[in-house]
Amino acid sequence: MNDSIKQIREEALNALREVPDTGALQSLSTAFLGRKGRVTSFLRNIASLPVEERPKAGQEANRVKKELEAAFEAALEKLASDGTDMTGAIDVTLPGRKPPFGSLHPVTQITRLICGVFERIGFDIAEGPEVESDYYNFEALNIPKDHPARDMQDTFYVSDNVVLRTHTSPIQIRYMTTHTPPVRIIAPGRVYRCDSDLTHTPMFHQVEGLLVDRDISFGDLKGVLTTFIRGVFDANTDIRFRPSFFPFTEPSAELDIRCVICGGKGCNVCSHTGWLEILGCGMVHPAVFENVGYDTRANSGFAFGMGIERIAMLKFGINDLRLFFESDIRFLRQF
Ligand code: PHE
Repeated sequence: MNDSIKQIREEALNALREVPDTGALQSLSTAFLGRKGRVTSFLRNIASLPVEERPKAGQEANRVKKELEAAFEAALEKLASDGTDMTGAIDVTLPGRKPPFGSLHPVTQITRLICGVFERIGFDIAEGPEVESDYYNFEALNIPKDHPARDMQDTFYVSDNVVLRTHTSPIQIRYMTTHTPPVRIIAPGRVYRCDSDLTHTPMFHQVEGLLVDRDISFGDLKGVLTTFIRGVFDANTDIRFRPSFFPFTEPSAELDIRCVICGGKGCNVCSHTGWLEILGCGMVHPAVFENVGYDTRANSGFAFGMGIERIAMLKFGINDLRLFFESDIRFLRQF
């Protein structure tokens, strides 16, 4: 009987010496000191011993129990303090957990796509302020005080002479007043118009382009814009130029592409014309060159401007402009 508790003690202490971590220590403790552990069972069995043996066996077993409890306690402290415990350690060989990735907003994607096409053919990116003076937004662009585009309904006025820019064209003026020709820029940015319905939001994005050099002709305009359209849409996209009017270009045109939805047969998106209007363009008006101090005999150039959301809608097949600005994660995740 005494041998037996001695043996249990020996085995427990030997096992303790080898225990690698707190997990193993916990199982070991259960095996010896738990409710069904060997020390506990031994104590329970004392009742079945001959009466005269019970006191001694009881004393001995209780002493071993206390000793082992202390030894387990000490082992636990040692493991916790010396850093050798591997329980709960990080296994650096496991594959990592991927954080969820965001995605670029479709307007950002299309802006980069458009700018990328122009950058490849030598255009620089230019920027300008969204709160703009009347002079840069209108006056310098040959839009006189009584022009209908200045109507209060289109323009957000900050004060008499300050507006939220209604287009990116003031960036042309700012650039030309600070740079001498040749000029080759592309200018993306937010613009504001007091207008809100299915196809208009009070804030939207435009990209402006400007090229000024010697002997620039309408042929150059057509070549550059054809390259652009075929870079952004299909390499075989049909294009047509329609005469138009802008105060700051002469002659002016609008560029249409064959409807990307119906292929020209006629559908709701192209109002059954088979064509989609993409951008406005033209040869820079001499009055604009005079306003920025460029010599009109030595220089000529062309400019163009387009709405980015419109191109994004056509590229991605989106039919409601407002979706761009509602920040619905289910919509944005698709891009
Ligand atoms: N600024 C014009 C618009 O907002 C677009 C344009 C830019 C047209 C440059 C011609 C040349 O509609």
